[in-house]
Amino acid sequence: MKNLQVLKAKSSFSQEIDSIASDKSISHRCAMFSLLSSAECEVENFLEAEDTLNSLKIAQELGAVVKKENNKYFITPPKKIKEPSDVLDCGNAGTGIRLYCGLLAGSDGFFVLSGDKYLRSRPMKRVIKPLCDIGAKIDARDNANLAPIAIRGASLKAFTYESAISSAQVKSAMILAALGADGVCRYKESELSRDHTERMLRGMGVKIEKSGDFIEIHPVKEPLKPLKIKVPTDPSSAFFFAVAAAIVPNSKVLLKNLTLNPTRIEAFKVLKKMGAKIEFVEKENIYEPIGDILVEYAPLKSVEVSENISWLIDELPALSIAMAFASGTSIVRNAKELRVKESDRIESVAKNLRIAGVEVTTVEDGYSVMGTTPRGAVFDSFGDHRIAMSFALLAMASSESTIKDIDCISTSFPNFIELLSKMTETKIYGS
Ligand code: S3P
Repeated sequence: MKNLQVLKAKSSFSQEIDSIASDKSISHRCAMFSLLSSAECEVENFLEAEDTLNSLKIAQELGAVVKKENNKYFITPPKKIKEPSDVLDCGNAGTGIRLYCGLLAGSDGFFVLSGDKYLRSRPMKRVIKPLCDIGAKIDARDNANLAPIAIRGASLKAFTYESAISSAQVKSAMILAALGADGVCRYKESELSRDHTERMLRGMGVKIEKSGDFIEIHPVKEPLKPLKIKVPTDPSSAFFFAVAAAIVPNSKVLLKNLTLNPTRIEAFKVLKKMGAKIEFVEKENIYEPIGDILVEYAPLKSVEVSENISWLIDELPALSIAMAFASGTSIVRNAKELRVKESDRIESVAKNLRIAGVEVTTVEDGYSVMGTTPRGAVFDSFGDHRIAMSFALLAMASSESTIKDIDCISTSFPNFIELLSKMTETKIYGS
């Protein structure tokens, strides 16, 4: 187990960063959607982190041929998805396992999906139940809820499904299943979740249209147009450095080439509302709007976050660090989904902030953070990459801290510590 020591930043910083990890959500989808294409797909800047490399390996185990040249992956799909000879290992990735459930539910063959101990304790009924309702043959531990998940490919019926949760993973699993269903399918969610699946599949030729509160997905008879994509920077990863600039006095950071998809940059808008100076500059549009975000320090004030939660769910741990440094009490509500992420993030954030001397109260769907002058301490990552990276930030603006068990950072952002080291002193120890 490796630990990370982070010192308080000695001075303010002004950095332009264009080497933040590529987008995780889009990279997963590149690996998976390549399997549906008619010819070789070209993916530049694919995220080479554990989660997404697992999805790519699974695509290979399902018959795709993958070549890498310089910064580009070339993924050639099989004529037909192959039955793998072993369990498909999704590692730590909820996106990996849930989307593959939808993709494989209608494919000929037998497939077993599993992952690490954290993934094996996360709820899968949210995809297994609606898929079984349309004819999928899927079973799993804990009454069809926990991985390993066994799938026997079956014929799927057209559906109208209203999801009680706003989840891009559930929506994407159902859209992928709809592609092979026996008629037009309709899907509605309580609040729009990130929409990379719709944008990318539309770009590959799928007819996905809005119809009132529903999206309508037309099944496909032929393989799809190949993907040709340069994966933008991940705003959820970039956000750690946005918070760093917002809490270290007189600092600024220019974050380059991010997806500016509105379902992904809500946390930057909240940070702006808290007082940080933030500018968005759109530069191009490849499946989604792409551009730069400039973040500059300014004293922060408290904020209430209770809407569009799925647009900033992944950034809430880092945002709570900004809340800890703000004046006043910040409130997070309607965020029950935090409880079923890589860790129970309501508890992980609250426990660590309390160790830093910050007063936090929790409720079932959120928490309140009383802004103060947090102090450095020894924090646990709870095996959760976003918790580990968030508490590394806290040290930068308070005092020396240690984050225990940081191996999880490589699931999404392998060069995080290298970038952090440009702003403050860090040391990794342990084995
Ligand atoms: C993701 C969707 C979100 C997000 C996760 C990635 C995706 O999860 O938290 O990190 O790529 O579709 P939910 O859809 O479960 O909210």
